[in-house]
Amino acid sequence: MKVTVVGAGAVGASCAEYIAIKNFASEVVLLDIKEGYAEGKAMDLMQTASLNAFDTRVIGTTGDYTKTADSDICVITSGIPRKPGMTREELIGINAGIVKDVSSNLVKHSPNTTIIVVSNPMDTMTYLVHKTTNLPKNRIIGMGGALDSARFKFRLAEALGAPISDVDGMVIGGHSDKGMVPLTRLATRNSVPVTEFISEDRLNQVKEDTKVGGATLTKLLGTSAWYAPGAAVSGLVQAIACDQKKIFPCSTLLDGEYGLNDLCIGVPVVLGRDGIEKIVDIELTDAEKDHLNESAEGVKKTNGLLEL
Ligand code: 2OP
Repeated sequence: MKVTVVGAGAVGASCAEYIAIKNFASEVVLLDIKEGYAEGKAMDLMQTASLNAFDTRVIGTTGDYTKTADSDICVITSGIPRKPGMTREELIGINAGIVKDVSSNLVKHSPNTTIIVVSNPMDTMTYLVHKTTNLPKNRIIGMGGALDSARFKFRLAEALGAPISDVDGMVIGGHSDKGMVPLTRLATRNSVPVTEFISEDRLNQVKEDTKVGGATLTKLLGTSAWYAPGAAVSGLVQAIACDQKKIFPCSTLLDGEYGLNDLCIGVPVVLGRDGIEKIVDIELTDAEKDHLNESAEGVKKTNGLLEL
């Protein structure tokens, strides 16, 4: 199993690290345009191999896409991250050009690959990868929902005073401060609806904290987060690499599911060897549907800024 990660910044390096540590891939290629940077990060990571007990070979390259040839999975983290006070949508101007260029280079050398998109605005960048590569739709996956759901579970556990392993929950919709739809109705603590334990007000607070999860970290760190994005990507890569058939909310091209068409947005999907093997079309309440439709409007508006 060969995995390429494009972008050796904090998010890309974190993806490579978690993938290597989980020890399911034979090779990870880290690619960056900054001279020597990916090579340095790869070497540093390889020097943790004996300490962290992994056999994955991590190599770095400065812009040489031939090294990425025949990758089973490619992760795109390239582009600029947001600064405090910025929305993800404001990154479109610079990141669209980069993602277009990166995705066409990737498919040139790995025509049967599966691409996971992390660059922001993530749903629009996932849509752009569809328009650029012509890969089948099951082979293009936007990462946001897996990350947002991890942040939701963190906030739920905090509110419940429970261990995170006791908590389950999912965020669908766009990967944006306004667009996320945390499904509080379906969140559980060891199979019991969380509404049995916490008030509606507290749950609304959890929802709001989840939606600004990335912005909160950007304010604290001065740039966007990397540990949870990296861990979320490694979870998706592992589900595909090990044919796990796990359900994650991911951004995928919709063709009538949830009443939506011609956009990529986060909904639950089954991930396995063939990438997105199934879109899980769950029944939503009217309020949840309204929120998802509003989110879709926002994503479509951002897609409209693409020069296709
Ligand atoms: C975040 O929410 C990177 O968009 C990503 O942290």
